[in-house]
Amino acid sequence: MSRRHLLEIEDLADDSIEALIARAVELAGGARPRACRGEVASLFCEASTRTRVSFELAAQRLGLSVVRIDPALSSSTKGESLADTGRTLAAMGIDAIVVRHTADGEPGRLAADLADWPVAVINAGDGVRGHPTQALLDAAALREAGIDVADRTITIVGDIRHSRVARSSLALYRRLGAGRLRVAGPPGLLPDEDELAGIDRFDDLDAALDGADVVVCLRIQRERIRSRDYPDGEAYHAAWGLTRQRAAHLASHARILHPGPVNRGVEIDSDVADSTQSLILAQVRMGVYLRTAVFEWLIRQV
Ligand code: CP
Repeated sequence: MSRRHLLEIEDLADDSIEALIARAVELAGGARPRACRGEVASLFCEASTRTRVSFELAAQRLGLSVVRIDPALSSSTKGESLADTGRTLAAMGIDAIVVRHTADGEPGRLAADLADWPVAVINAGDGVRGHPTQALLDAAALREAGIDVADRTITIVGDIRHSRVARSSLALYRRLGAGRLRVAGPPGLLPDEDELAGIDRFDDLDAALDGADVVVCLRIQRERIRSRDYPDGEAYHAAWGLTRQRAAHLASHARILHPGPVNRGVEIDSDVADSTQSLILAQVRMGVYLRTAVFEWLIRQV
């Protein structure tokens, strides 16, 4: 008795991608959420502000009950597996589990383990592998700002190697027909060549920004990096930071994204993050609407 899940961009049909983005933009424009009935478990095994709060707010605004599970106080500390935690929640009647995990693929494995239960699993970010709702909300924020990514040039800058956001975003922007996808960053923070098919790789940020319609800045994800094969501090900012000087060369219609959390003065200058070209807080706001659309898509409506 499996249910629909939201695990990876690659699993979503084109019409589902379009429906989720369009519904998020509609909700952001003032459409009424459709009341849902059910219970959601919020299971974050890694730190989060934006994703956790926006999923929980979205659920509450739809009339769903939210149970937040603190991993430090759960029976996972006594050796219980994620699969057994999931089965325990499903046996209590939980309708959806929003899961963030440090390990690649854990939400997908949980969904497979719960195939006999009527519970939806939503990936809120797994390891370096995927963050599908972030990619969808970014596309929705761009659409709300009047940018349709089809045929546009999108440059992603920074630590792409350890970024689940970059992987989901590149997958989504390909599906949405982006014209040119570019990545730029220190060699130690770029993915292996086999992940870069159809993507232009730059070792010079100014060249990567030339003609960009959308620039996505990423922080260095130190919590997932084992080697120190990259410049740090001022050297990183000088080579790979979206500085005020670099931002001044962007086209006036270009928009700047950052999934957060932002390290001001490292990957982006503070006044660029706060500029009129920046969609950083529009992304955060859209996160609530996109996740509302996800619950409407997955959970029984009243
Ligand atoms: N973008 C993002 O996933 O932020 P959080 O880690 O704060 O949820």
